[in-house]
Amino acid sequence: MTTVAHIAGIGSYLPERILTNADLENMVETSDEWIIARTGISERRIAEEGQATSDLAAIAASRALDNAELTPADIDLLIVGTSSPDMIFPATACLVQNRLGMTCPAYDLNAACTGFIFGMHSGVSAIESGRARRVLVAGADALTRHIDFTDRATCVLFGDAAGAVVLERSDEPGVMGIVLGTDGSGADLLKIPGGGSAMPATHSLLDSRLHYVRMNGNEVFRFAVNAIPTATRQALEASGLELGDLDWLVPHQANQRILNTVGQRLGIPSDRVFSHVHDTGNTSAASIPLALDDLYTSGRIANGDILALVGFGAGLTWGAAVVRWTKATQSKEG
Ligand code: ACO
Repeated sequence: MTTVAHIAGIGSYLPERILTNADLENMVETSDEWIIARTGISERRIAEEGQATSDLAAIAASRALDNAELTPADIDLLIVGTSSPDMIFPATACLVQNRLGMTCPAYDLNAACTGFIFGMHSGVSAIESGRARRVLVAGADALTRHIDFTDRATCVLFGDAAGAVVLERSDEPGVMGIVLGTDGSGADLLKIPGGGSAMPATHSLLDSRLHYVRMNGNEVFRFAVNAIPTATRQALEASGLELGDLDWLVPHQANQRILNTVGQRLGIPSDRVFSHVHDTGNTSAASIPLALDDLYTSGRIANGDILALVGFGAGLTWGAAVVRWTKATQSKEG
């Protein structure tokens, strides 16, 4: 029998604090109309002071364990996809592991906004190889900590959140084809230049605001609207499925215009392209599990549904995982 993996549990966490477009109008020269028209975003959540990425990830991971009806001791491996770790080291995953009272190996993985899909790839590989039975994969980012709130081109886009799934060995196929991609020639298009070994923290670095996200928005947009359709088609082909088999496209929630364009390019009706970017903004590596948890907890996915989870981000990186949903439909009250 071939070893396969399925999603046995899911959880997510959005911080309480809301930053609306009206709030941003008081901070930079922008307008609700511009932000809605160009991005579809209306509000985003901001981690509380003192709340770090590991805090967000630990709540989401704990909720995923509860949803799977498992305990921390049942997990063989913990992977946290993040590009806004608590510290350069130790890994955020080590802090989450300790917080939850786990004893398994734990590591971070940085593929920016595609971090969750890269984490799923590693988790599924560990299960398929027989090295793990259950892997907890989280995507967590507090990217607003690295946003220049005087730069209107980037500060309207991002929010903080975490999401997590428990992957478990199973006899029925759950996670099907997964494809990943990287094009390092695009590394300059989206980056935090300062604070690493190339440009260590100094007073002048801070004065130059080089510790904040820098982005070429137009090029990132062009990349995204090509990468998502290509990765979706490749992951479906690797699963032996076709576009017509898809119940939901669950793309990285970066921008409504990107979601509209990829839906059109793939010929998927807009009501099958999941979006809640209006309420969350771009939550980076958290975005896909957060979106999936929203679909699940609002009762919109049923056992047997076919989903394509598709990410793209800095690196450049991209990836897609086709998933057959193996959990019962969640009641809307539940
Ligand atoms: N409010 C008002 N005006 C603004 C704002 C703002 N918040 N931001 C930029 N502008 C202005 C610009 O200054 C420019 O003015 P100018 O013409 O006088 O120079 C004008 O609006 C147009 O600027 P563009 O950058 O060309 O605007 P564009 O239509 O490309 O929209 C956006 C910008 C929304 C960033 C778009 O490029 C985009 O969505 N890109 C993808 C970004 C993205 O999703 N990044 C993250 C993905 S990867 C990851 O998640 C890690």
